[in-house]
Amino acid sequence: MTQILEDNNIKLSQDNIPSHIAVIMDGNGRWAKKRGLPRVAGHKEGMNNVKTIAIKASKLGVKVLTLYAFSTENWGRPSTEVNFLMKLPIDFFGVFMPELMQNNIRVFATGILDDVPEKTRNIIIKAIDETKNNTGMILNFAFNYGGRADILEATKRIVKKIQNDELVIDDIDESLFSKNLLTNTLKGFSDPDLLIRTSGETRISNFMLWQMAYTEMIFEDILWPDYSPENLVEDIYKFQNRDRRFGKLN
Ligand code: FPP
Repeated sequence: MTQILEDNNIKLSQDNIPSHIAVIMDGNGRWAKKRGLPRVAGHKEGMNNVKTIAIKASKLGVKVLTLYAFSTENWGRPSTEVNFLMKLPIDFFGVFMPELMQNNIRVFATGILDDVPEKTRNIIIKAIDETKNNTGMILNFAFNYGGRADILEATKRIVKKIQNDELVIDDIDESLFSKNLLTNTLKGFSDPDLLIRTSGETRISNFMLWQMAYTEMIFEDILWPDYSPENLVEDIYKFQNRDRRFGKLN
């Protein structure tokens, strides 16, 4: 077992790095409030932290890092905040694309992009295209994503295939259902091994409901803009000390 000593004196075993880490980046608003700043200042700081954590995750050997950047429920926030969140991908890729390229990071998106403003959608599609030959970590933005919507859309796709005589009911199994979810683009890595939620809230807020059936969960009492690369190392260490049985005995 190869062990690598990280800066904070934690030894991670190289052969048990979670392949797919999903993060609910919560607490931007509270981070800003604590400093007497508008909520959007927290989102901006949260956006900067996306780059820091993505680079650390890629260096640690994570294969897919999915970040919950905008949920199907977030449309219910005040329009000024929604507009700001819609502009974040434009800022993010505008500033950080060279560093993503240097780190061989490939951009993906999981969500209903058709309902996202055109300018935002186009910038995300451009980032996916520009990084398509990178062979390192997949940085997957869950953008306009909802777990229930994902399951409903998969169901509709399957029913249509049955109506078109492309499938029969007995063809429906877990593997076929998974292939009809938005995470199908992640191939063998569609299900997160580890979920991290920051800010102390302990819920999954409609995130990857099907995909998280056997995901290990860690809830950190740290606001997302304060979540550091050392925290990521600690969380991977906690993951490595969990006993994953997938419903079996060992
Ligand atoms: C939840 O915190 C956070 C969000 C709804 C947005 C998360 C987005 C980012 C961190 C930036 C994403 C970056 C890109 C490139 C798209 P909250 O606002 O609910 O915080 P609160 O619970 O403290 O109010």
